[in-house]
Parts: sequence; structure tokens; C-alpha cells
Amino acid sequence: MNALETPVTPFLETCRSRIDSTLDQRLSASEFGSPRLLEAMRYSVLGGGKRVRPALCLAASMAAGQSNDAALVPACAVELIHAYSLIHDDLPAMDDDDLRRGRPTTHIAFDEATAILAGDALQTLAFDWLADAPLLNDQKRLAMVRELAAGSGHLGMVGGQSIDLESVGKQLSIDHLESMHRHKTGALIVATVRIGALTAPDIRPEQLTALTDYANTLGLAFQVQDDLLDIEGDTTVIGKPQGSDLARGKPTYPSLMGVERARQYLNELLNSALASLDGFGPEADTLRAMADYVVARTH
Ligand code: IPE
Ligand code: IPE
Ligand code: MG
Ligand code: MG
Ligand code: MG
Repeated sequence: MNALETPVTPFLETCRSRIDSTLDQRLSASEFGSPRLLEAMRYSVLGGGKRVRPALCLAASMAAGQSNDAALVPACAVELIHAYSLIHDDLPAMDDDDLRRGRPTTHIAFDEATAILAGDALQTLAFDWLADAPLLNDQKRLAMVRELAAGSGHLGMVGGQSIDLESVGKQLSIDHLESMHRHKTGALIVATVRIGALTAPDIRPEQLTALTDYANTLGLAFQVQDDLLDIEGDTTVIGKPQGSDLARGKPTYPSLMGVERARQYLNELLNSALASLDGFGPEADTLRAMADYVVARTH
């Protein structure tokens, strides 16, 4: 095992290739539609990405006792929302970044209007995929649509992004920063894990609560590590411009509490996320390994 390999590496690699091929197949041309728009959608979705959210969705499904592929299409739907959030996050009106996943951002590779529309289209497509996801009944599909709407809308990711933009150049309190991170990044991760868990036919309420606690903590940890990578990462490894937060005066964990304390906090979050899974057996081992991966990742 080299330094970059962890126990979750084989799972993540298998997951990535299954997700990539499902996304590739499903994002195909139809009779109507703008070829340029579809090209921009495919560019944004298929151009790399760690696929952490789909992997979490599949791992949560396994932890909840589901052994079939019911989580595959819902996992892809979550990735569509994530890809749309990145396209919009990089726009000049937001973070104004020109590099993503080691390539020009969508508005640079295409143009701003096409990038906005590609994001819009990916968002609606995500709900369409959930609404007729295979191997699930309508009640489950409806519950998942509601989870994804809650995690990605004004009370979730979009709300957090709005707070992020209002906070540029300001000194936030730790509580306010935490709330911003829980919304802009954590909320979609919570929805992802809950959607995965909901694929199991007989998930118990206490299991769903424990998985939600895990996702809440891991979602915050995900953004703390993202903030740290903005300072300590290398542009060629992270695939996006290092120092972007600093240059734009974004409040982040390291800017507020220092790098060392932020790293300590990240470790506390990891332990707390793992403790949420104490009631589970080996069926949650992949989720445990995913938590380790999220805080140790280098990109
Ligand atoms: C980056 O997400 C945006 C955040 C929410 C911090 P990822 O680090 O999962 O990005 P990709 O999908 O691997 O490119
Ligand atoms: C992104 O936060 C949160 C999203 C909802 C996309 P960042 O702005 O820190 O993400 P990166 O660093 O550009 O990937
Ligand atoms: Mg941002
Ligand atoms: Mg950004
Ligand atoms: Mg960032």
C-alpha cells in the first residue's frame, strides 16, 4: 500500500468506475436539445471528481442492509447536484475560479450563459432520475426527492452558498462559520447518506438517526479539510487554484482558528463521526473507512 492508498481505495475505485459509466450512459443525446448544452453538462459531470458523495450513498445503503443496486441511480442523482453546485460556485459572480478538477471551469471552457444553463439543467435532471429510480417503490422515490430538495435548496446547500457570499471580507464567529459549512457542504452530504439508507426496505428510525449524525459531522469535516487544502494543498494536486479562499477574503476554519487548531478540530470531528456508527457492525465498515478517507484526502 503506498502513502495514498487507504483501506477504502478499492471500494472507491470500483465505485468511481460504476458511477462514471452510469453517468456517461444516462447523459446521452436525445432528439431534442442543444448539443452545446449537453456537451457542457457532460464536461462538468464526467471530467474527473472523486465521487465521494456517490460512494457515501452506496456505503450508507450497505450499512442499512441493502444488498442490491437500488442506490446506484440515486447516487448519480446526488452527483448531478454536486456538479451543478461546482459550476455555479466557480462563476465570476461567485468564487470566480478558472480551474476545476485540473481543467478550465465550465464558464471558461464554454461561456458564462452556457455554464449557468448547464447547472440549471443538471439540477432538474437529478430530480427526474430520482423520480423513476429503478428497484424502488414510489414512496421511497418521493422520500428521496424530498431529501435531495432539502439538502440542496435554500435551507441547505444554496442557503449556505448565499451566507458564504455575504461573508466575504468579514470576520465570522465560529458558530456562524460552522452553520455556513453545515449548510453549503454538510447538507448535501446528509441528504446523500439518508438517501442511501432509505434504499433499504426496513431501515429502523434509530439507524437513520445514527447515520444522519454521522453524515452531519462528516459533512462539516469535509469542508474543514477543503479549507485546509486551500492553504496547504498544491494546485496541481487539488486541481483547483490553491489560495482562492485567502485571495477572496473567505472566512474559513484555518483563517479563523489557525491551521493547527483546525487540524485538531478535524480529528475531533472524525472521532465523533465514527462514534455515531458504534451501534453498527461490519456492515458499516465502508462508511467508517470513508470517514478516514475524507479527512486524510489530499485533493
Ligand atoms: C468540492 O467537492 C466542493 C466542496 C463541497 C468542498 P469535492 O472535493 O468532492 O470535489 P470533486 O467532486 O472531487 O471535484
Ligand atoms: C463549495 O465550497 C461549496 C459548494 C456548495 C460548491 P468551496 O467554494 O470552498 O468549494 P471549492 O473549494 O471551490 O471546491
Ligand atoms: Mg465557494
Ligand atoms: Mg469555490
Ligand atoms: Mg474550497
